[in-house]
Amino acid sequence: LEYKTLVEDPTLPAAQKIKIRAAEKARIDGKRVVIFGWAHRVRMQGKSMMFVTLRDGSGYLQCLLGKEMCKSSDTPRLTVESTVALYGTLVTVPEGKSAPGGHELIVDYWKIIHAAPSGLDAFETKLNKEAGPEVMYDQRHLVLRGETASSLMKLRSVFLQAFRQHYDEQHYVELTTPCLTQTECEGGSTLFKLDYYGEPAYLTQSSQLYLETAIPSMGDVFSVQMSFRAEASRTRRHLSEFTHIEAEMPFITYDELLERLEFLVCDVIEKALSSPARGMILELNPDLKVPQRPFRRMQYKDAIEWLRQADFRKDDGTLYEFGEDIPEKPERFMVDTLGEPIFLCRFPAAMKAFYMFRDEEDPTLTHSTDLLMPGVGEIIGGSMRIWDYDEIMAGYAREGIDPKFYYWYTDQRKYGSCPHGGYGLGFERFLAWALKRDHVREQQCGCWRSSGRES
Ligand code: 4AD
Repeated sequence: LEYKTLVEDPTLPAAQKIKIRAAEKARIDGKRVVIFGWAHRVRMQGKSMMFVTLRDGSGYLQCLLGKEMCKSSDTPRLTVESTVALYGTLVTVPEGKSAPGGHELIVDYWKIIHAAPSGLDAFETKLNKEAGPEVMYDQRHLVLRGETASSLMKLRSVFLQAFRQHYDEQHYVELTTPCLTQTECEGGSTLFKLDYYGEPAYLTQSSQLYLETAIPSMGDVFSVQMSFRAEASRTRRHLSEFTHIEAEMPFITYDELLERLEFLVCDVIEKALSSPARGMILELNPDLKVPQRPFRRMQYKDAIEWLRQADFRKDDGTLYEFGEDIPEKPERFMVDTLGEPIFLCRFPAAMKAFYMFRDEEDPTLTHSTDLLMPGVGEIIGGSMRIWDYDEIMAGYAREGIDPKFYYWYTDQRKYGSCPHGGYGLGFERFLAWALKRDHVREQQCGCWRSSGRES
């Protein structure tokens, strides 16, 4: 083949710049268009036909480069992930053929904006299917260009919007709270410590304490913030940095807290499934349905009894006892066996944070809940909060917390205190459940140079 510099035919109408999402309209209008994007796939057919699947973030489009177009001096440099501008007109794909959206671009002029490497550095070589998970995480910045990873990121946006829409419809106010704090919320062992101009500070574990502080003037509030945990456990569902969706509500009861949680989960799924992203969701998880309400409520003590009855044993061969934490494995076993959402309720105070409200009938227990979902386990942790001054002081003392840094939190228990409660939902865990993914890391867009650990 003899290559030559392509020249745009000056007799053709000027091309209108569009995104792939507008391809159908452009086809109907019969307009000549130019689309900028990435060469997602490149396939030569014989010597005089080339198919390029173009990706521009708004969709995928099959583009056909005929004989003259294949002769371009740019052709040998047209590798996967090169950026290109493709000019032409849209037609429906011939009968019996299929392509995304049912149409293709017949290219009449094109150019390379930037050529991606070929040979050993070629995109396909770097991300070959045999590469193990560690390599794939090192190459996360490139993996994100793949179809599954980019669908996940788009659905992240769809679900986040559904959460915000839910809160907006229910008249919650969104708050943006500090990430650098002087206080702990979920125990010292998972705090990331840092130097704050010579004083100790931490990366936030939760926005809860700030949300509680806002309810007297704003009523129901929520936040979407990164939370940070120096996690000892490296599991499929633990991240050092995760997206935390939290809410706090004044004058609710424990039962109302559970009802609001059910409503939130069901409403968000319903919103997402009735959005234009429905098809993309069902492609990843064909089984996703709005769960049945009410969710099963199971007391912590009954969960321990259930595990004992099922003869589920710890690694050392012994059975679980009342007062012990229920870690990921038994939690998963239980929720996967029962196959439905479960509210675990009334955890013993001794194993929970300093702020949890005590059960009136049995003050060794708290008005707390974890929501477990099949396939993932805990996705939400919530509770009613101590609203009495003396009780919160006792809570600090029990956990060895210096009340000095919490004066503003304590003050809430002096100036018109009220019964209140709230929760935190791990967004990556929620997505792992809703989109049936194995690992919460798949829900993040971050990149992290290999170090044995990952964000
Ligand atoms: O149960 P947690 O620790 O509760 C709190 O932080 C409360 N202060 C929230 C509140 O009431 N406002 O965390 C809440 C949720 C968990 O159920 C889990 O989904 C998620 O946050 N989460 C994590 N997700 C990923 N990686 C981690 N290391 C996580 N730690 C907690």
